[in-house]
Amino acid sequence: MFEKLEMAPADPILGLTEAFNNDPNPTKVNLGVGVYKDETGITPIMNSVRRAEGMLLETETTKGYLPIPGAPAYGKVVREFLFGQDSAYPAATAHTPGGTGALRVAGQFLKKINPNATVWVSDPTWPNHNGIFGDAGFTVEKYTYYNAQTRTLDFNGMLASMKTMAAGDIIILHACCHNPSGIDPAVEQWEQIAQVINEKSLLPLMDFAYQGLGRGLDEDAEGLRIIAAAVEEIVVCSSFSKNFGLYKERVGAITLKAGSTETVDKAFSNLKTVIRRLYSNPPAHGGAIVTTIMNDTTLRAEWEDEVAQIRRRIAEMRELFVAILKAKGVERDFSFLTSQYGMFSFSGLNPEQVKTLREKNSIYIVGSGRINVAGMTKANMEPLCAAVAKVL
Ligand code: LMR
Repeated sequence: MFEKLEMAPADPILGLTEAFNNDPNPTKVNLGVGVYKDETGITPIMNSVRRAEGMLLETETTKGYLPIPGAPAYGKVVREFLFGQDSAYPAATAHTPGGTGALRVAGQFLKKINPNATVWVSDPTWPNHNGIFGDAGFTVEKYTYYNAQTRTLDFNGMLASMKTMAAGDIIILHACCHNPSGIDPAVEQWEQIAQVINEKSLLPLMDFAYQGLGRGLDEDAEGLRIIAAAVEEIVVCSSFSKNFGLYKERVGAITLKAGSTETVDKAFSNLKTVIRRLYSNPPAHGGAIVTTIMNDTTLRAEWEDEVAQIRRRIAEMRELFVAILKAKGVERDFSFLTSQYGMFSFSGLNPEQVKTLREKNSIYIVGSGRINVAGMTKANMEPLCAAVAKVL
């Protein structure tokens, strides 16, 4: 059976990491996968995380299974992140293996309860959205989002697309730090989005992987909180990979909010059945780290400071990249980068330029031209900008 198979194409993002790891060039730069690098070019373990891990090592008493949705204390922490500390929505959370795991669970769950819905993703979106919801059996369609000419959100186009959606359709929204464009709706725009969701009876699925990396922990949740306040039922798929630097611990969550506790309980019982059949129950370690940090005042303050440093460094690299390109006489205006948020921006580099940068300079960029600004450092900036200037 296996002999008949053709090679599957490499993943557009993780396949690039494989190629990067195999590249012997000592000056190689990875601006592909959404992983944060510090000023020295490594993905560090946060101090708060190390300290929490030390505490866990001392106090852990068993390796017994967690419940299907994970530890209740973790679920509580997740909902505080999403909805704010004082929120009391009828909602329930399951700890999933990463944000991808949350999306996978969402796909399976939603297909069971609403099999004929269309899933709508932004044009462009994280490529894996298409694969995950396609594999779940949904038709996946695109809604207008990015205007490549103006490098801004095509908001009228987005609303016009939303008006063509059918009742019960699922709209995937990037809650902040849109992946891949770095362009988020403004507060008033989120309000209008919420209104159209209600008018058209859509189900919003918020993908929230970059909280704290854009404008701030609460600021980055603004869009999600506007939707949650205005719309009765929502699904949130969130991740702590980036803001806690816990990538390999696979620590994510799926949260359902509904109109009443009774409805949430019913929906959540179905979600648990889905999880049981997919992976039974989640891995404990990453969730325990997050819970330990958030429930300890000192660790929490230290962690908040560490996220703020990440946010500042990303903003600084955006400024520096634009300034150095300008200093090199590049005429194309890259200043749009400084008004975008999170790890990603569309550089505007075409596939040919992306290929040349990789082959000549070992600079790895996703084929769409998406760059991970968090892979830039003061040390690699000069050669990076020189190489980019050359291909333009
Ligand atoms: C990315 O978009 O680079 C990240 O979300 C990592 C991934 O899994 O693709």
